[in-house]
Amino acid sequence: MIELSGVTKSFGQNHVLRGIDLKVDSNSSMVIIGGSGTGKSVLLKCILGLVHPDGGRILLDGQDVEQAERDSFLARFGMLFQGGALFDSLRVWENVAFRLLRGAQKRPRDEARAIALEKLRRVGLGPQVADLYPAELSGGMQKRVGLARAIAAEPEVIFFDEPTAGLDPIMAGVINDLIREIVTEMGATAMTITHDMTSVRAIADHVAMLHRGKIRWTGPVAELDTTPDPYVQQFIHGRAEGPIEALR
Ligand SMILES: Nc1ncnc2c1ncn2[C@@H]1O[C@H](COP(=O)(O)OP(=O)(O)O)[C@@H](O)[C@H]1O
Ligand SMILES: [Mg+2]
Repeated sequence: MIELSGVTKSFGQNHVLRGIDLKVDSNSSMVIIGGSGTGKSVLLKCILGLVHPDGGRILLDGQDVEQAERDSFLARFGMLFQGGALFDSLRVWENVAFRLLRGAQKRPRDEARAIALEKLRRVGLGPQVADLYPAELSGGMQKRVGLARAIAAEPEVIFFDEPTAGLDPIMAGVINDLIREIVTEMGATAMTITHDMTSVRAIADHVAMLHRGKIRWTGPVAELDTTPDPYVQQFIHGRAEGPIEALR
């Protein structure tokens, strides 16, 4: 479903992506791990066309993302941004139903609202939050609203950037289960960034580790514990000592 080959991206002298090769099968869940600032968010933004790579190629379902027609291309994706990125001036339900209120997927307002309430319920939020504004919610609630918005239009491919960061362990479990369900029940393809190892084990079919601008290791989640790769072992066990330098 997603295929990257030799993708590079620098910001001035900061060579963030130095040749990324990665394949994500359709109807599967890929989790990207790696230290802070290694370029995980930049990688997702490149796939979505929000950041333009300097080199390499990104194919979605065989189509080059740089050449795709933007509207129909973006309609196939859902994205949960790391910071939530909700619209401050829209009510919670209008944020969730954003795509359903405009464009090609436009629905009548009451229908869009009903779908928004259903998606909010799936992320553990009741109807009492629907008419609030994002500023009236806690950070964890905003995150869940962002997640409800990402799944509202039932996209084929969904990206989750740190979906459980800032959530308590129980709510993180709810979100992990939901991501898993989206893949198994809706047949979606998911790509998730996280440093939460509980989340990795709950969500992933495959794992890829980003280090120094390249995919250091990739494999089925079952091989995460057994791979001898010292970078992976240091990361998953959170050891201060190892080949990954703590100072970045
Ligand atoms: N728009 C941008 N302009 C300049 N530098 C950026 C931009 N976006 C990200 N970076 C830099 O790219 C690097 C990787 O960032 P990011 O992908 O956000 O890391 P993370 O792996 O924590 O998600 C960082 O050094 C960051 O400062
Ligand atoms: Mg990030």
